[in-house]
Amino acid sequence: MSDAIQKRCALITGCSEGSIGEALVKEFYTQGFHVFASSRNISTISKLAQNGIDILCIDVTQLDSIRAAKSFIEQKTGGSLDILVNNAGIAYAAAASDMSMERIRQLYDVNLFGAMTMVQEFLPLLLKSQNARIINIASLAGLMPVPFNSGYNSSKAALLSYGDTLRVELAPFNIKVINIAAGNVESNIMKGSERELPRESIYYPINENFRRDRIDHFQDGATPAAKFAQTVVGEAQRTNPRAWVYTANNSWTVWIISTCMGRKGFDNILSKMFGLKKLATIVALSSADSK
Ligand SMILES: NC(=O)c1ccc[n+]([C@@H]2O[C@H](COP(=O)([O-])OP(=O)(O)OC[C@H]3O[C@@H](n4cnc5c(N)ncnc54)[C@H](OP(=O)(O)O)[C@@H]3O)[C@@H](O)[C@H]2O)c1
Repeated sequence: MSDAIQKRCALITGCSEGSIGEALVKEFYTQGFHVFASSRNISTISKLAQNGIDILCIDVTQLDSIRAAKSFIEQKTGGSLDILVNNAGIAYAAAASDMSMERIRQLYDVNLFGAMTMVQEFLPLLLKSQNARIINIASLAGLMPVPFNSGYNSSKAALLSYGDTLRVELAPFNIKVINIAAGNVESNIMKGSERELPRESIYYPINENFRRDRIDHFQDGATPAAKFAQTVVGEAQRTNPRAWVYTANNSWTVWIISTCMGRKGFDNILSKMFGLKKLATIVALSSADSK
């Protein structure tokens, strides 16, 4: 008998401690999968290593690291992979007028091009599975105009669109593609965010709102990552998974508004929530003063 792993196998990117990826690893493992847990820095996933979970280094922006992981997985599984979860992602809170284009390019490299590259590289393995799935962890942010987030929002909108086309293109090969439109989930995603707007920003008059509402309290009410992971892994195992899964905090509200209220459905709510209404008053008063 071959030494290849006999269980169904899942590969997940971005599994650092405290992240959604880590919760997905644990849930796939609990559901009986052999899991390949990856991260760009192996020290962030060392605690996950055990029988049934292989840890490996993948930086989704580095083709060499992707290909090294691919060879390792090919050897372990005999050349196939059942589930690829494109989970690695980064956030960047900044106004469109202030954001660093270098950081936006970096963000797209991870959130969009990283996922595209993973699909291209792992497709030969997925094609060898009898019933493969690709899961893209996108975001509700891709469906609504969350202020000070246009780079991230647009990368996730692009990921959703990419996943839609991929679903149609891969259907003849029985590879099912699932887009996850995730609401707020507990993780480290906001931990590296700048908490202040640049002093020269045209938004600086609402810096306090930015710090409080956009950064410090943005994740209030977030869904526990373990609960989110149960939904995702449950969907991955359905015979006919949904094309889009709206899940986690606020997902129903966002679904209703985006489906029933038209493109401007979010404008008032989000402008009020993030201080832009207040800014409009400040701007109107200061232009009246200067007349
Ligand atoms: N949390 C939410 O509310 C929420 C909502 C909707 C969607 N999402 C999406 O969920 C996914 C997971 O994020 P999270 O919330 O768990 O945030 P997180 O705790 O910050 O985890 C992000 C993971 O991506 C990894 N990563 C970053 N750059 C990478 C690269 N170049 N190559 C490989 N891995 C890289 C991070 O590694 P390091 O630890 O080394 O940085 C980390 O493991 C992301 O795609 C995010 O956009 C999150």
